[in-house]
Amino acid sequence: MVQINSNYLKLKAGYLFPEIARRVKAFSDDHPGIDLIRLGIGDVTEPLPRACCEAMKAAIDAMGTSEGFHGYGPEQGYSWLREAIAKQDFQNRGCKVSAEEIFISDGSKCDSSNILDILGEGNRIAVTDPVYPVYVDSNVMAGRTGNAAENGCYESLTYLPINATNNFEAQLPKEAADLIYLCFPNNPTGAVASKSQLERWVKYAREHNALILFDAAYEAFIQDPHLPHSIYEIEGARECAIEFRSFSKNAGFTGTRCAFTVVPKGLTGKAADGKQVELWQLWNRRQSTKFNGVNYVVQRGAEAVYSPEGQAQTKALVSFYMENAAIIRSELMTAGFTVYGGEHAPYVWIKTPEGLDSWGFFDHLLEQAFVVGTPGSGFGAAGEGYFRLSAFNSRVNVQSAMTRITSL
Ligand code: MLT
Repeated sequence: MVQINSNYLKLKAGYLFPEIARRVKAFSDDHPGIDLIRLGIGDVTEPLPRACCEAMKAAIDAMGTSEGFHGYGPEQGYSWLREAIAKQDFQNRGCKVSAEEIFISDGSKCDSSNILDILGEGNRIAVTDPVYPVYVDSNVMAGRTGNAAENGCYESLTYLPINATNNFEAQLPKEAADLIYLCFPNNPTGAVASKSQLERWVKYAREHNALILFDAAYEAFIQDPHLPHSIYEIEGARECAIEFRSFSKNAGFTGTRCAFTVVPKGLTGKAADGKQVELWQLWNRRQSTKFNGVNYVVQRGAEAVYSPEGQAQTKALVSFYMENAAIIRSELMTAGFTVYGGEHAPYVWIKTPEGLDSWGFFDHLLEQAFVVGTPGSGFGAAGEGYFRLSAFNSRVNVQSAMTRITSL
C-alpha cells in the first residue's frame, strides 16, 4: 500500500490563512448580508501598475505571432529581467549581485520552502517567534523537526522570541544554529532591521558557518533611506546568505505571480564527505529539474517595474498602502491601543486588549466590528496576546474598519 509522508501528520491543524478563511466563511454563512472588511491575509487590492499591464498586453500580442512566440523559457528566468533586477535592485545600492545569481520564480513563499531541497537534514534551524508560518511548516513537512509540543512549538527548532520587551529584535541563538530564517521588514510584527542589527547576524553566521535565509519580500515598504533593503548591503553577506524577493507586494503581483531568489556564487555548504559545495550549483540544478520558469508574459510585466513609469507607479502603490498603515496606527493609538510596526511595513502589530487573547480578539472584531484580522498566536506561541492588521485594502475600507473598531 502506498505510504504517505508522515511528517504532514505533525502539522498543526490548517495553515493559518485557510483556517481564518474557514472561520470567516462559517460566520458569513450564519450572518448573510454582513459586509466584512478583510485586513487579515496580506493580499493586495489595488490594480496592477499601468506599465506592467501595457508590457503584458504587448507580450501576449507578440505570443500570437510567429516572430514573437516563446515556448519554454530559461528555468532561471529571462536574462533581460535578471539584468534589470541585478542593476536596479542591487548594483545601484552598492551590492555586488550579478544577473546570473538571480533566479526568477513564481513566489518567495514557494522558494523559501523549496530551498530545503538543497539543504541537509541535520541542520539546526533557528526561527523567530512569531514567524511567517511557511518557514516552520515547510521544515515540518520535510522532516526537519520533531513533534509539536502543547504550545505549538516543534522539538529541535530553535525559537528566538521577538516582542515588545526586546523591541522585536531577536537575540543571537545561544546554541549554534546552521540555518537562520530572517524576515525584514518583518512579517508579522512590521519591525525593520538596522544595518548594525544585520551586521550582527552576518558576523554570527560567518563565525558559525551558518546560512541566513533572508526574506526581503517587503523591502519596498522601507521609508527611512538609511535602512538596508538587502542583506547584501552588509559586508560578508555574500558568503552566508540567500535572499528572497517578490513582486507581489510592491507591484501587486499576488495573483500574477513573480518573484526571485538570489544565490551568490561562491556561497558554499558542507557535503557529507566534508567537501565544500556551491549552493548556486545545487539550486540551479534543482530549478532546472523541477521548474520550467515563470511565463514569458508575466516576466515582461515584471521587467516593466524597472522602467521609469513602472518605478513611479510602484512607488505610488507602496505609498498608498503605507498611508493606510499610518491611518491604522494613528486611529488605533488614539483609541488607546498599543501598536507596533506599520512604519516600514504594511503590517500593524497590536497588543490585544486586557482580557482577550489573540483568537478572542479575532472573534471579537469579527463578530462585533465585522473586521477580519490575523491572530498573533497563529504566527507562533510568542505571538499570543498580539494581533496583526494588514494595510492592504482600499482607503474606504481601511477608514470604515477603523471607525468600526474604535467605536466598539
Ligand atoms: C501574509 O498575510 O502573511 C501574507 O499573505 C504572506 C504571503 O505573502 O504569503
